[in-house]
Amino acid sequence: MDLTIRPRRLRNGETLRKMVRETRMDPSSLIYPIFVREGQGIAEEIPTMPGQYRYSVDRMGEKLNSLKEAGVSSVILFGIPDYKDEVGSGAWAEDGIVQKALGRLKKDFPDMYAITDVCMCEYTSHGHCGVLCGHEVDNDKTLELLSKTALSHVQAGADMVAPSDMMDGRVSAIRKTLDQAGFTMTPIMSYAVKYASGFYGPFRDAAGSAPAFGDRKGYQMDYHNSREAIKEALLDVEEGADLVMVKPAMTYLDLVAKVKEAVKVPVAAYSVSGEYAMIKAGAALGYIEEDKMICETAVSAYRAGCDLYLTYYAEEIARFMKEGRIG
Ligand code: PBG
Repeated sequence: MDLTIRPRRLRNGETLRKMVRETRMDPSSLIYPIFVREGQGIAEEIPTMPGQYRYSVDRMGEKLNSLKEAGVSSVILFGIPDYKDEVGSGAWAEDGIVQKALGRLKKDFPDMYAITDVCMCEYTSHGHCGVLCGHEVDNDKTLELLSKTALSHVQAGADMVAPSDMMDGRVSAIRKTLDQAGFTMTPIMSYAVKYASGFYGPFRDAAGSAPAFGDRKGYQMDYHNSREAIKEALLDVEEGADLVMVKPAMTYLDLVAKVKEAVKVPVAAYSVSGEYAMIKAGAALGYIEEDKMICETAVSAYRAGCDLYLTYYAEEIARFMKEGRIG
């Protein structure tokens, strides 16, 4: 056969295949979401996310140690408070769960980069991401609470804040508040492109943050939309976001690619709880092989263009990267 071009030539053997890989990754780009709760001596498995735990502050070090060993140097903290109220005041309390966790983390793991999720839904009695006016979340009133929360996280030791509420104007409100308090060097990673998604189900079980009525479609994005993702990303960059995120990841990789083209800041992709749960469940049933699925989904996010990857599989992925299995 007279074939000048044979694409298979570059697939001939593992060494060559690795040499010509188009997607290169490094564990430094991984961010692990960790759930911290009140109490002592607790590491309780999350029923809808097997292998993931809610840690009390005194036990989160167990996971932080194994992350560190695997080469993961960054976490994003989610707080599960004991007390909730209408306005979510636990979010900015000086002795709030995230604030306490930050104190401990920075003391025991000073090199671990600590990002915090800034949102009200884990702290409000109604489970919405802001303060209510009737049955609607009041955008402008919520900005003040988000800013207070972000500031209190930074004062407690957060290296970066990540607002996930989807209120309009939150990035500029938070930036202004941090700057006025002298935290001009603390970056903001905005959940700029966050869709109203069924893939958050297991997280809401884990964090007890499901809305008591209605849904989040009045603030999170409609998954029919794509140009709106660019509008949101550009707007957040204009407001001062240092990094922007697309969330979920797996079913939104078209947006990861488009946002990457549109902005000049690093782009993160968040492989959310439902993505994790699907792989876990499929593997438990023996329908799919977990390790292969972890590798393939992770690489697909990087191939689409993300610079940072938030994932509950961060530790496993870091190991696979080190072993040269991917990356
Ligand atoms: C808080 C928040 C959510 C997630 C991250 N931050 C839940 C939501 O918006 O309902 C989801 C993360 C996941 O599913 O892994 N607003």
